[in-house]
Amino acid sequence: VFEEKHFKYIIVGGGVAAGHAAMEFTRQGLHPGELAIISKEGVAPYERPVLSKSYLFPNEAARLPSFYVCDEDYKKKRLLPQWYVNKGIELILGTEVVKTDLASKTLTVASGRIFRYGTLIIATGSEAIKLTDTGVQGADAKNIFYLREIIDADELVKGMKRKYKGKAVVIGGGVISLEVAAAMRINGFDVSLLYRKPWFMHELFTPAIASFYEKYYSDKGIKLIKGADVVGFETASNGELKTVKLKNGKALQADIVVVGIGGRPLTALFKGQVEEEKGGIKTDGLFRTSVPDVYAVGDVATFPAKRYGDMRRVAQVDHARKSAEQAVKAIKASEDGDFNIEDYDYLPFSNSSYFDLSWCFYGDSVGEPMMFWDKRTTSTTKPKFVTYWYHDGSVVGAFLEGGSAAEERGLAAMVRLRPTVPKDELARKGVSFATAL
Ligand code: FDA
Repeated sequence: VFEEKHFKYIIVGGGVAAGHAAMEFTRQGLHPGELAIISKEGVAPYERPVLSKSYLFPNEAARLPSFYVCDEDYKKKRLLPQWYVNKGIELILGTEVVKTDLASKTLTVASGRIFRYGTLIIATGSEAIKLTDTGVQGADAKNIFYLREIIDADELVKGMKRKYKGKAVVIGGGVISLEVAAAMRINGFDVSLLYRKPWFMHELFTPAIASFYEKYYSDKGIKLIKGADVVGFETASNGELKTVKLKNGKALQADIVVVGIGGRPLTALFKGQVEEEKGGIKTDGLFRTSVPDVYAVGDVATFPAKRYGDMRRVAQVDHARKSAEQAVKAIKASEDGDFNIEDYDYLPFSNSSYFDLSWCFYGDSVGEPMMFWDKRTTSTTKPKFVTYWYHDGSVVGAFLEGGSAAEERGLAAMVRLRPTVPKDELARKGVSFATAL
C-alpha cells in the first residue's frame, strides 16, 4: 500500500500549458513543495511545436534542452529540469494518471499511488487521431507514424533513418502535415502530401492563399494529391509498408507514412465528473470548471471567447500559454480574496513555418478576404503578402506571410482593435495598413 501524497496544487499533464502555469506560479509567489506536475511524458515541459519542425531537420536538428518551455521573450528564461528543483516544484515524470475522483480530490497513477490536491489544473492536451480508430485496413503496418509527443518524434526520426530518402506519404492537409512534409522533403524524401479537401489548410487559407503555398510546395518537388481518401495500406510479408490505397482505386508506393489528421482532447479521465462543451471541458473566463478548485487549460478547455460571444476550444500553443497564466492568476487572486480579475480576452493566433516561409494569423476569418502583395516583392526577394478579412466595414482578421517579428506584433495590435476602414483605403494601403501601425 502506497502512502498518499498531498500537494496544494497539482497539474495533470506536463506539456506547454503545465510549463507556463509553473512559471506563472513562481511569478505570483510559490513555496517549495506546494506544486507538483504529473506527466505521462518522461521529460520536463517543452515547446511542442518544435517536434514537427526543426526536430526533424537533417542538420542542426533541435534537441532538448534547447526547447524546454520558455518565457514570452523567448530564450531569456528556459525552464530546464533544474529550474523546477530550484523552485521546489515536484516534476513527477513518466507517470500516467489513470483515475481521478474530483469529489475526494484524489488522483491515482498507473503504479497505484494516490495523490491528493487542494487545487487541480487539468492540462492533459490532445492525442493524435489514429487511422486505426476508424478501422482503415492495414493501418497498424510498420512505418506508419503519428506525431504528438517527443517519443513519437524520436520514432519518426528513427523511421526516417531506416527509410532514408525513400518514398514518403504524408496524410492530412493541416498545419502539422504541411510542416512534416516540408521537413521530410528537406531530408531528401520523395514526398507526396494527400488531403481530402480541394486545397490544404482548408479551414484557414483562402483559395488564393492556398494557391501560393501549394505552388511553393510543388516547386519544392512535393506532390500534392487533393481530394484523396485513404482506404487502406498494403504491406509486404515482413509487415513493412508497401502502398497506400486510395478510394478512387489508385495506390501509391510508400516506404514511410506520417498521418496528421487532427487531434482529440484528452478528457476521458474526467468524464461524468465535470461539465463538457464542444468536446472539451467547459470553463469560465478564469478557466474554472464546473467543479470547485478544478481548472482546465490549453487544448482541453472550452472557454468563453469574450470578444466573439461564443464558446471555443483552441488547440494552439499561444492559447496554451495564456490560458495557463490566466488560470494561475485566478487561483492566486481567489486565495487573496481578489475577485476583480478580468475574464480572458482571447485573440485567435496561429502561425507556421516551412522551408524559408513563415506566416501568422490573428483574429477571425469571417467576412470578405482581401489579399495584397508587398509592392517590393520581386522574383528574387522573399515573398510577402497580407490577407485581411473585412467584415461590416472593419478588419476582423489578418494573415501575414514574410513579416518581421515587429510587423507581426503590429498585426496583432491592429486586429485587436478591429479598425474601421473604408474598403478603398484598405486596398490603397495594402500591406502597409497592417505593418504601419
Ligand atoms: P500538451 O499536449 O502540450 O501537453 C499535455 C501533456 O499531458 C502531455 O505531456 C501528455 O503526455 C500529458 N498527459 C496526457 N494525459 C495524461 C495523463 N492521464 N496522465 C499524465 N499526463 C498526461 N500550435 C501552434 O500554435 N503552432 C504550432 O506551430 C504548433 N505546432 C504543433 C506541432 C505538433 C507536432 C503538435 C503535436 C502540436 C502543435 N501545436 C502547435 C499545438 C500545440 O502544441 C498545442 O496546442 C499545445 O501543446 C497544447 O498545450 P497543452 O499543455 O494543452 O497540451
